Amino acid sequence: MSSAVQVEDVTKNYTTSVRKGLLRREKRVVKALKGVSFTVSYGEVFGLLGPNGAGKTTTIKILATLLIPDSGKATVCGYDVVEDPEMVRDSIGVTLTVEKGFFWKLTGRENLKYFGMLRGLSGKKLNERVNDLLETLGLNKLGASDRFYEEYSLGMKARLCLARALLTDPPILMLDEPTLGLDPPSAREIRNLLVMLARNRKAVLVTTHNMFEAELICDRVAIIDEGRIISIGPVQELKRRVADKIAVDILVSNPAIGLEIMRKRLRTVIETVGVGVDERGGVYVRFTCRSGEEDKMIADVIKSLGDLKVRIYRVNVEEPTLEDVFISLTGKAGEA
Ligand SMILES: Nc1ncnc2c1ncn2[C@@H]1O[C@H](COP(=O)(O)OP(=O)(O)OP(=O)(O)O)[C@@H](O)[C@H]1O
Ligand SMILES: [Mg+2]
Repeated sequence: MSSAVQVEDVTKNYTTSVRKGLLRREKRVVKALKGVSFTVSYGEVFGLLGPNGAGKTTTIKILATLLIPDSGKATVCGYDVVEDPEMVRDSIGVTLTVEKGFFWKLTGRENLKYFGMLRGLSGKKLNERVNDLLETLGLNKLGASDRFYEEYSLGMKARLCLARALLTDPPILMLDEPTLGLDPPSAREIRNLLVMLARNRKAVLVTTHNMFEAELICDRVAIIDEGRIISIGPVQELKRRVADKIAVDILVSNPAIGLEIMRKRLRTVIETVGVGVDERGGVYVRFTCRSGEEDKMIADVIKSLGDLKVRIYRVNVEEPTLEDVFISLTGKAGEA
């Protein structure tokens, strides 16, 4: 099957004016995207991860046909975003962080019905779909379905926004910071829903600057910074690319026994060996090896400890986090 989203060398500049003195204004060009390429497949959650101003929202807007790219090519569900914008819009559900499109004096349910009608739904089918979505997005549970939109909290607005994106059950979702401003349990609910949608063969493109979130839900991520994608791939692979070492902590009964013997015996796989005490007073041995060799190291170490009659209580692989990857690539700290 072809890719759900295909982006090839897309660029986008914004031209703005900057005040120079009382009356004088000067033109300024902001290079928001400097040749961005990536693909998103059906069945995956793909994360566009980057700091403020990196170009995430600009990318989503181009794919949602709200902005026209300056150059490059982007297709969504096989349709070109510039040549076939209507077909693209029929294939996608979109949420943007700054949502202005809802009616303040209508309830959540009425808003969804209105947008459902605009998208061609009607009668029993529309009612059923709206009821399902109010339930799935937790708006019934919050008692929000029949309250006016003007009374909605940030979390309720985010849920309604996602409900609207799902109205026509589109094959492709593009969600700009879908959990922004949500409390932790609500964010978790939304994340679970996104993963479930991807498992149901939808393509889910999300933007975030939350590393923790990207690590939890994304099958692949692209790290974008200053309009350029600087790394792309499965989360685990990105981690391996930046970290050349992995540490494995093994909580043992008696670390004094045989460490020297092990050091000698396993010198081809182990780089360093050290002893530490964890927060509960347990003694652990920390072995490090080159990234990618940890499976072999763990197997060899466990066998050797067994030979030496040392009991193992816990094995902990201290992998680098996505945040380590992000900082190492961009030189900027992310948001936890
Ligand atoms: N309408 C606009 N006019 C001028 N410049 C803009 C406009 N929209 C965005 N930009 C600029 O383009 C760049 C990319 O912005 P964009 O909104 O795509 O970033 P982002 O990755 O979504 O950031 P954030 O995490 O803050 O939402 C930034 O330098 C921003 O200032
Ligand atoms: Mg943005």
